[in-house]
Amino acid sequence: MKPVKVGLLGLGTVGTGVVRIVEGHQEDLHRQTGAAIQIEKILVKDRSKARSVSIDADKVTLDPMDILNNPDIDVVVEVMGGITPTKDYILEALSRGKHVVTANKDLMALHGPEIMKKAEEKGCDVFYEASVAGGIPIIRTLAEGFSSDRITKIMGIVNGTTNYILSKMSQEGAAYADVLKEAQELGYAEADPTSDVEGLDAARKMTILGTLGFNVNVALSDVTVKGISQVTKEDILYGKKLGYEVKLLGIAERTGDSISVSVQPTMVKTTHPLASVGGVFNAVYVYGEAVGETMFYGPGAGEMPTATSIVADLVAVVKNMGLGVNGRRGVAPYKEKKLKTDEEINSKNYILLHVEDKAGVLARITQVFSAHDVSLESVLQHPNPTNPKAEIIIITHDASQANMKKVLKDFESLDVIDKIKSVYRVEG
Ligand code: NAP
Ligand code: HSE
Repeated sequence: MKPVKVGLLGLGTVGTGVVRIVEGHQEDLHRQTGAAIQIEKILVKDRSKARSVSIDADKVTLDPMDILNNPDIDVVVEVMGGITPTKDYILEALSRGKHVVTANKDLMALHGPEIMKKAEEKGCDVFYEASVAGGIPIIRTLAEGFSSDRITKIMGIVNGTTNYILSKMSQEGAAYADVLKEAQELGYAEADPTSDVEGLDAARKMTILGTLGFNVNVALSDVTVKGISQVTKEDILYGKKLGYEVKLLGIAERTGDSISVSVQPTMVKTTHPLASVGGVFNAVYVYGEAVGETMFYGPGAGEMPTATSIVADLVAVVKNMGLGVNGRRGVAPYKEKKLKTDEEINSKNYILLHVEDKAGVLARITQVFSAHDVSLESVLQHPNPTNPKAEIIIITHDASQANMKKVLKDFESLDVIDKIKSVYRVEG
């Protein structure tokens, strides 16, 4: 097979790792694919920037057409990020019959169906393993490894920044703002960390995982999102006392034909495998009807872990080229989308209330739960030495989201409740 030529869009953190792996693993890549893989051109924004890999100056370009309109280039690897002009570049590459490998979760979450449609029309491959959980091969696992099973639940710690923040708050009692600053300095957070801490980055990743796991076109707008900016040291401390770790979980669930996808801070029982995933690591827990519980763990970001996923996609494209089977998409989402109603979404819940410390308060509160058919697993009252209010921590049994909303609405007008401090889903 003749050498396969690659055009790289971007030479930042991930692009640099791709160059290192493609150049450093030439012999293995050739043996696995039957072709030499060569990086022909690299698009950057700033030619004068110092690079940590040595590159022939004539390979570097500022003109995207040197790649998109180059008849020698077979595969475009997109590691630029963002939506504009990246989406146009990818569509242009596909229109010219070039295969695409991308790490771009934002683009795949928002425009995945349009990109896959164009790829299908043109008989091209589009692979995006690096877009979720960096170095963990979770996309191929869902699309291929689980093809014989029916997935009912996917729970992911898919944002390293927030996991780093929550782990540090839990292990060292650190304050939220200090750890966020540290995560930015360490390069884990996005340029604007709001998308990490408010859950949007995780929501984009869950859109991709939900689509693959349930064979339904999940849109970003289908995902309910709550970030970690309101999580306090107090929540983490009480969670620990009760045997829980607070984690930002992406949760995609299917019951019958109905699905729900959410991102929210969750109290995870310390015995659940997701509770021990610390620091910047990612993990995806998948429950299949036949296989039962599985979990995939590893680095969710970083130069070399993310580049391994990109180059594995490149290997898949080149193997397909050798077999002449590019563009034969395994399985496009083929099921009708039915989103669960609030009545159909069930979970245990953790509630922290500040209340009047006087007789009869607990009875008034439990009356509200019972009026809306929510049964309680445990109730803990804690005197607060710094304030005359008492703290009540409640864990419910499984309750519908609809009933929980009614309880919380009634609590807002219940005179003995001073403040609803926190409400979290409970898992495990
Ligand atoms: P990065 O370090 O910011 O690098 C972006 C690269 O793209 C730079 O080389 C930049 O050129 C180039 N670029 C950006 N806009 C351009 C434009 N308009 N025209 C030409 N070149 C342009 O980004 P990254 O961290 O490598 O991330 C790349 C992609 O991988 C993103 O989609 C990201 O979400 C995804 N991803 C990243 C990680 C990670 O750990 N970093 C993990 C998983 C997925 P200059 O170098 O000249 O500025
Ligand atoms: N900001 C992202 C994270 C980078 O913290 O997980 C990897 O997508």
